Amino acid sequence: MKKVNISLQHVSKHYSVIIGEHSIGQLTHHIKFDRVTQIYIITDSHVATHYLEPVISTIKKSFDGAIHSYTFDAGEKNKNLSTVEKIYSDMAEKKLDRKSLVINLGGGVVTDLGGFAASTYLRGLPFVNISTTLEGMVDASVGGKTGVNLGNKKNYVGVFAQPKLVIADISTLSTLPKRTLIQGYAEVIKHGLIADKTYFAQVAEKPFTDFNHDKQIEIIARSVEIKAEIVRQDEYESSTRKLLNFGHTVGHVLESLSFSSSDPLYHGEAVAIGMVAEAKIAQLSGMISDKDFNTIEIAIKRVGLPVKYQQSTSVDTIYDLLFTDKKNSGGKIKWTLLSSIGQGEENVSIGESLVRKAIEYIL
Ligand SMILES: NC(=O)c1ccc[n+]([C@@H]2O[C@H](COP(=O)([O-])OP(=O)(O)OC[C@H]3O[C@@H](n4cnc5c(N)ncnc54)[C@H](O)[C@@H]3O)[C@@H](O)[C@H]2O)c1
Ligand SMILES: [Zn+2]
Repeated sequence: MKKVNISLQHVSKHYSVIIGEHSIGQLTHHIKFDRVTQIYIITDSHVATHYLEPVISTIKKSFDGAIHSYTFDAGEKNKNLSTVEKIYSDMAEKKLDRKSLVINLGGGVVTDLGGFAASTYLRGLPFVNISTTLEGMVDASVGGKTGVNLGNKKNYVGVFAQPKLVIADISTLSTLPKRTLIQGYAEVIKHGLIADKTYFAQVAEKPFTDFNHDKQIEIIARSVEIKAEIVRQDEYESSTRKLLNFGHTVGHVLESLSFSSSDPLYHGEAVAIGMVAEAKIAQLSGMISDKDFNTIEIAIKRVGLPVKYQQSTSVDTIYDLLFTDKKNSGGKIKWTLLSSIGQGEENVSIGESLVRKAIEYIL
C-alpha cells in the first residue's frame, strides 16, 4: 500500500489527507479513539452496500463504544435540509455529545451533507471524511465547504468547516460507475490548468483509469495539494480561491440547463465543457494562444470528457443564465480565466460579444 500524507495548514487547523489503496484501515491509526464517546457514520444507500460493514468492522478493532450509522437514499436530490433534519433527530435519539465522532462515508453528496450536519449539530461535532468517489477525493472532501441545496438552488445553505482527517481509498473506485468516475477527472484537469503546467501535461496524457494505481494515487495527491494550497491562501473565498471556479461559471449553467432533460450532464462533464468555453474566452481575448487553446480542448477530449453541449439550447439562453449564478450577483461576471496553461487569473471582466462567441463555440 502506498500512503500519501498531506498536511493542510489552516490558520489554526491542521489535518491530514491519507491517499492509498485499502487505506480505510488507516482511520484507526490517525484518530485517538480513547477520547471518543460514540461514533456516528453517515453514508448513502449505494455506498452502504459496499463499504459500511467493512468500515464498522475496522473501527471495532480499536473502539469498543457504540457505533451508529445513518444511511440516506443516494442522490443529489436528497442533499437537502430535510435529510439533515432527520439526521439531527437521529443524533439526538442516539444522545451524541461533542466528543462523538462523525464519519462521512461516501462521495461529495455525503461529505457535503454529513460535514454540514456534523458541524452544526450541538454547534459542531468533529468529523472525518472517507471519500469514495474521484470527485470527492480531489475536490469535495477537502477544502472545508460543507452544505446542502435549497430546492434547486445548489449549495445555498452551508458552513465552512474542516474535517479532522480525510481518507481517500482508491480501492473504492472499483465499484464506482464508469461515467461517475470519469466525470471526477474534470477537477483534476482543472487543477493542472489553473496551477501546474507539468502536472497538466501528465494528467492529460490519458484517461484516469489507464494509469496504474501508484500513479493514480500520485495524481490524486497532487490535486489535493493544489486545492489545499489555494484554500490555505484564501479559506473563505475572497480572492485566490476563486481560481477553483475555472470552468464552473459556464459549467454551472450547462449543468442546471440539462438538469430537467432526459440525460442530465454530470457536474464534471458540465465543467469540462465549461472549461472549453472559458478557455475560448481567454483565447479570444488574447490571454492564451491558439495553440494552448487547442492543447486544452484535445486534452479534455482525450481523457474521455465532453467538449460540446449536445442538447438543444441557444446562446441567448446560456448567456442570460450566467447572471443567475449566486457568484455573479450585481449583474457583473467576474471570470476566472487562464493567462497560460498552469496559471489561472481571477476577477477578469470580459465584454458580452466575446462571451457570446465562446458560448457559440461549445454548441
Ligand atoms: N464541498 C466542495 O468543495 C465540493 C466540491 C465539489 C463537489 N461538491 C459536491 O459533491 C457532490 C458530487 O459529488 P460526487 O460526484 O462524489 O457525487 P455522489 O456523492 O452523489 O456520488 C455519485 C454516485 O456514486 C455513488 N457512489 C459513491 N461512491 C461509490 C462507490 N465507491 N461505489 C459505488 N457507488 C458509489 C453514490 O451513491 C452516488 O450514487 C455535489 O453535491 C457537489 O456539490 C462539493
Ligand atoms: Zn466542480
